[in-house]
Amino acid sequence: MVNSYRIASIPADGIGPEVVDSAIEVVEKLAQTLKTFTIEFTHIPWGTAYYKETGRYVDKNVLEILQGFDAALFGSVGAPDVPDHISLWGLLLAIRGPLQLYANVRPVRIFPGTQSPLRHADEGDIDWILVRENSEGEYCGQGGRSHLGQVWEAATEVALFTYVGIERIMRFAFETAQSRPRKLLTVVTKSNAMRNGMVLWDEVAAIVAKDFPDVRWDKMLVDAMTVRMVNNPKSLDTIVGTNLHMDILSDLAAALAGSIGVAPSSNLDPTRKNPSLFEPVHGSAFDITGKGVANPVATIWSAAEMLSWLGEKAAAKVLMDSVENVCRKNILTPDLGGNASTKDVTRAVCDEIETLG
Ligand code: NAI
Ligand code: MG
Repeated sequence: MVNSYRIASIPADGIGPEVVDSAIEVVEKLAQTLKTFTIEFTHIPWGTAYYKETGRYVDKNVLEILQGFDAALFGSVGAPDVPDHISLWGLLLAIRGPLQLYANVRPVRIFPGTQSPLRHADEGDIDWILVRENSEGEYCGQGGRSHLGQVWEAATEVALFTYVGIERIMRFAFETAQSRPRKLLTVVTKSNAMRNGMVLWDEVAAIVAKDFPDVRWDKMLVDAMTVRMVNNPKSLDTIVGTNLHMDILSDLAAALAGSIGVAPSSNLDPTRKNPSLFEPVHGSAFDITGKGVANPVATIWSAAEMLSWLGEKAAAKVLMDSVENVCRKNILTPDLGGNASTKDVTRAVCDEIETLG
């Protein structure tokens, strides 16, 4: 008996459907070729079109629906004619919070055959895992607006940090660092200027570190961290930080690795009580929607992370080896300097799977 998986596919908006289609095609090819597992994708129509029709981005029983699946593969949400905070809170944040997907894992590396904008960085010089706290901080939803329409109109965005929230992401980050050859963790905060929540982060890091004597760790202020990422990328391995800080640093990391079009992410419930959600880091990319040139690698890599999380590590490796071979052959979309289409890359990855599998 081989393992069978049921996956919720939520392509949503912009280039989401283009890149999710591509990832589904290569994963189905992988399953057919390897025959070590079976996988079934169920389309869920949530997104801006659904919102315009029903007034809601997701169904009311979003949790119940997703709990019927082993995992979810998501595209991107956001449309030019809907304010971004409505679409993001309506869909993605409506899933991340209630499912307690508190660990957002964002691996970054330079693929063979591609170039970092950093003059001296080659393949292997950037090989990081960014761990983003995914449930609190500035994105917890606390705050408000008052004196509307007055010149003294005021707004607050409260950054919420809890011991429980910090401790669980810190433990996850130390475990991640421990599982990698270099066993090296950098904790990012801003505990000079932000003297409450960020100081608690530092304190919890020091406490959790005691349980991981084999992990080397250091601390960075977020502003100095941007400089280190650019000037000394080889000094980093696993990185952990707040929701806001890592949102920003992970876009920088993706750009340094060559393109936001190759950056994947996993939204994990490490307790495995709820299904986890896998998605590219990028958004809807209005400027290239419908042109057939979106880079599918970020979503394919996200699907590989999903397979790995589900226990299909060997299959995930075949998939990533296939992607690497395609890059090595210079079959690249325009964001990586090539002229291949989404479909060209998808087809080439399927061919590699057949060769390797
Ligand atoms: P974006 O990631 O959509 O685009 C930024 C730039 O990167 C654009 O020039 C785009 O063409 C390029 N790009 C992104 N993905 C690419 C890919 N796979 N291949 C090639 N090029 C790619 O970010 P932006 O413009 O800030 O946001 C557009 C919309 O997406 C907004 O509505 C925003 O709220 C939403 N968004 C949604 C996210 C999500 O669903 N997780 C994440 C980020 C933004
Ligand atoms: Mg972001």
